[in-house]
Amino acid sequence: MLIAGNWKMNLDMSTARQLAGSIRSSLEDPGPVEVVLCAPFVYLDAVYGLVHGSPISVGAQNMHAEDAGAYTGEISASMLRSVGCSHVILGHSERRQYFGETDKSVRDKVVQAVRHGLVPVVCVGELLDERDKGEAEAVVARQVRGALEGVAYPGRGKLVIAYEPVWAIGTGRTASPEQAQAMHAHIRTELSGLFSEGDAARIDILYGGSMKPANADDLLSQPDINGGLIGGASLEAAPFLSIVRAAMRADRP
Ligand code: PGA
Repeated sequence: MLIAGNWKMNLDMSTARQLAGSIRSSLEDPGPVEVVLCAPFVYLDAVYGLVHGSPISVGAQNMHAEDAGAYTGEISASMLRSVGCSHVILGHSERRQYFGETDKSVRDKVVQAVRHGLVPVVCVGELLDERDKGEAEAVVARQVRGALEGVAYPGRGKLVIAYEPVWAIGTGRTASPEQAQAMHAHIRTELSGLFSEGDAARIDILYGGSMKPANADDLLSQPDINGGLIGGASLEAAPFLSIVRAAMRADRP
């Protein structure tokens, strides 16, 4: 299980520090649940400094696919590693929608992240219109293959997928546990085709899209839901920690 907070373009340095500090001080031993804070680039170093030595890891929300060079305004995988990041969100629907991210650019970034020892959290998910037309499974399968085709299995815990139906992100609408489970099982089948069935069984597939304390238990108890990518509910310590606790309950046999 993995619970990742996606802070998106929110907070200032002082509130980011407060949030990371209070999550760290209030988090009891999360056991097998991994906790990752995906902060804006400019806060990564500070957040890492605050959580270093605790069970909490730090992730970025995007990166560039090249090693270095004349790419004004961009951030490389090795830069992220040098400030303590272990994870990076790639292909978030907001990047696809507003910044021209494509399956191909996501794939290039996945390859680069893995090469540098960063765990890519690869986001996939259909638009409402695509779901209404009955195309959700095909869209998500295309995104999974597009991001991972030809990528060698990086090893246990080194690749994470996040299913985020675009219609559920920041809208308060959530996929029902059954809808989410069905799509997660479909994603796992796609992953079995790309890697082996055994490897696919061990890849964490997170659900994202208005996951909150009130729905976390139901979502996280589904067999193919292995955690959450949390936007709105990660901007305050209390709801975020309550989702982490739901994951701890769900991880118990
Ligand atoms: P949300 O965002 O929890 O606010 O819906 C999730 C995400 O976009 O990662």
